[in-house]
Amino acid sequence: MITIGIIGGTGVYDPSMLQNVYDKELITPYGSVNYKVGDFAAKSVVFIPRHGSHHSTPPHLINYRANIWALKKLGVQTILATTAVGSLNLAMKPGHFVLPDQFLDFTKNRITTFYDGGERGVVHVDVTEPYCPTLRKIITEAGEALRLSLHNGGTYVCTEGPRFETPAEIRMFEKFGGDLVGMTSIPEAILAREAEMCYVTISMVTNYAAGITKLPLTHAEVLDTMQLNTENIKALVMSVIKLVDTNADCSCRHALQEFGGFKL
Ligand code: HPA
Repeated sequence: MITIGIIGGTGVYDPSMLQNVYDKELITPYGSVNYKVGDFAAKSVVFIPRHGSHHSTPPHLINYRANIWALKKLGVQTILATTAVGSLNLAMKPGHFVLPDQFLDFTKNRITTFYDGGERGVVHVDVTEPYCPTLRKIITEAGEALRLSLHNGGTYVCTEGPRFETPAEIRMFEKFGGDLVGMTSIPEAILAREAEMCYVTISMVTNYAAGITKLPLTHAEVLDTMQLNTENIKALVMSVIKLVDTNADCSCRHALQEFGGFKL
């Protein structure tokens, strides 16, 4: 039984921590999803590279609904996602890990729900705690044991992309309380909650956001910082897979109780 899903973001295209890996495809009502399945620590794990295995899908065109639907269909109850982010907060430095606990949604053209009316009806899911607090605690402990620079908590501002932000936008996000800026946590976190799965994003700070430093931003800078952190990400994810008790109950798994539960 597959219980853990990893969604690999920028720079994380390959589940090198898994053994006996094989490729599969699943057709969902939203389109097909290519994924890999492998084992680690006696757990069966599914891996989806969010941007495709060669970073060919930009953030605004990712099929978020298909990915989350596929993970749910495969039996996943716990999703560990990785995201590359720019930092607005000088304490969250390039190379640090952050586990966001809140988001600000500045996306523009994305479908952020499985519930569009019609047959599936209308649902208003609670996102008071949008990122699973239990998972954040486990990852924080794993990060401390590995002596990583990791912050538990922070507000993730999700932009539409694929362009980076203007310094004026970053100043506005700072005033609104944003700590990090990225392009992919929304609608992923929302859909995972609608699908009643525990979800967390491990954000890796790859740069200071536009205007925080005077230098122009480059995608190469983002990739270089990710590259330097590859071994740390791998160690962190491996340790979390070991520590996660996939049988433990969590409020994330009852998020749609009021609406009769999530149905595939
Ligand atoms: N902005 C948006 N997304 C990002 C950034 C950034 O500065 N760095 C990595 N992903």
